[in-house]
Amino acid sequence: MAVRKDVQKSANGKLIGKEALQRTGFATALGAVFATIGSAVGLGNIWKFPYLTGENGGAAFIIVYLISTLLVGLPVMIAEIMMGREARSNAIETMRKLSPSKSQPWWLIGVAGVLSAFLIMAFYTEVAGWVFAYVFKSISGGLLSTDPAVTSQAFTNLVSSPFQSLLWQWIVLALMSLIIIRGVSKGIEATTKRLLPLLLVLLIIIDIRSLTLPGAVEGLKFLFTPDFSKLTGAAILTAMGLAFFKLSVGMGTMTTYGSYWKDDQNIPSTTARVMLSDLAVSMLAGLAIFPAVFAFGFEPTAGPSLLFITIPSVFASMPFGNIFMVLFFLLASFAATGAMLSLFEVPVAFLAENTKMGRVKATVITAVLLGVIGSTAALSSSTLANFTVFGKTMFDLYDYLSSNLLLPIGGLFIAIFTGWVWGAENIRKALSNHGTLKNEMVVNAVIVIIKFVTPVLLILVLLNGLGIV
Ligand code: PHE
Repeated sequence: MAVRKDVQKSANGKLIGKEALQRTGFATALGAVFATIGSAVGLGNIWKFPYLTGENGGAAFIIVYLISTLLVGLPVMIAEIMMGREARSNAIETMRKLSPSKSQPWWLIGVAGVLSAFLIMAFYTEVAGWVFAYVFKSISGGLLSTDPAVTSQAFTNLVSSPFQSLLWQWIVLALMSLIIIRGVSKGIEATTKRLLPLLLVLLIIIDIRSLTLPGAVEGLKFLFTPDFSKLTGAAILTAMGLAFFKLSVGMGTMTTYGSYWKDDQNIPSTTARVMLSDLAVSMLAGLAIFPAVFAFGFEPTAGPSLLFITIPSVFASMPFGNIFMVLFFLLASFAATGAMLSLFEVPVAFLAENTKMGRVKATVITAVLLGVIGSTAALSSSTLANFTVFGKTMFDLYDYLSSNLLLPIGGLFIAIFTGWVWGAENIRKALSNHGTLKNEMVVNAVIVIIKFVTPVLLILVLLNGLGIV
């Protein structure tokens, strides 16, 4: 693990000064790729992608999602990783370092990112808590019923119990803290490198099971036959928000991770691989879920409860279903872990670097804050069920605000800053690794897209999706 040369050491070998950080980054290029894919692949793929596709017209929604990923999500990911690596700093400090004049408040993009990380973690740790709870419940066989009324009751029992909701959320927070405290390489990199291959193997096992069920073809038809009548402005905004959420962009996660990437990594081609891997996992998740759902005659458009009510009944309907159910929730918990580590790292990197508190204290403070904010989401099906803002519970509000507003708006400002303020020359240097890569065509395409296509599309979709145009 190479410590950067400019990091100073005091006489006793301890790191000192502002660079006295865990600025060691990921140990290997492959580790950086694993951690970054680990951030992108998460409940967004396994929980959100399938139910949003179900709600919004199947394949038609996937097409809009793909376009958003290519023209908006990927360019913003490239911008974030590039800026993080240039500045070698956390999300806020990166914007401050790269902005041309200290009087321009571009660092506010970083501040918005840290706030988004808290908002997303608030509901994400709750859903992850349900997933962890379901790993245990499915091992004990407690979820095995082909009757959705029974599995629905089991889910209601979990979410309507304040004690259970908080307990599982806090277990998740404690586990993530233990990994984050170990550091970027020994904690995040080491964990994602182990979990990601396992996740893939488990997903493929479930895909084979699902696709070989009689009647599976109905699920394939649903996934691949577009219904364009459902594509409203709001649905298109949702597709774009999902692209941001799934790629972990628009808020500084990728900026933070980019600051741990290696100097010689090829950013455009590696981020494209991250995007394709994320897409592949989403499709594999869709192929695991829909063919089985249709094969047993269940409703595909079951909303967020698809994962926790329909899926257990689907598994209960097949031979050895209990084993597949355990594997399924296990892989979902692996996916959630990689994503949560990257969310956690955003405030931790900022606190550890910009104050003198060090990584352990920064992690504890972040976890405690998350426990407090997150509890308002965790209790939104019980104690706080009647507490709504704009007609949404805290859980739904955090989800809506982050995916449909904060991430796209964050992405818009990141694109504008990169393309128009930081500028083409800097982008050219950074993406060619200061002239060592011969990738002019790709870099020129990125510059045009980030300057013109990404911001225009974002503005149009935001205005339209919010009902302003
Ligand atoms: N990309 C993650 C997922 O799909 C969620 C996430 C969003 C992670 C934003 C980090 C930042 O589940």
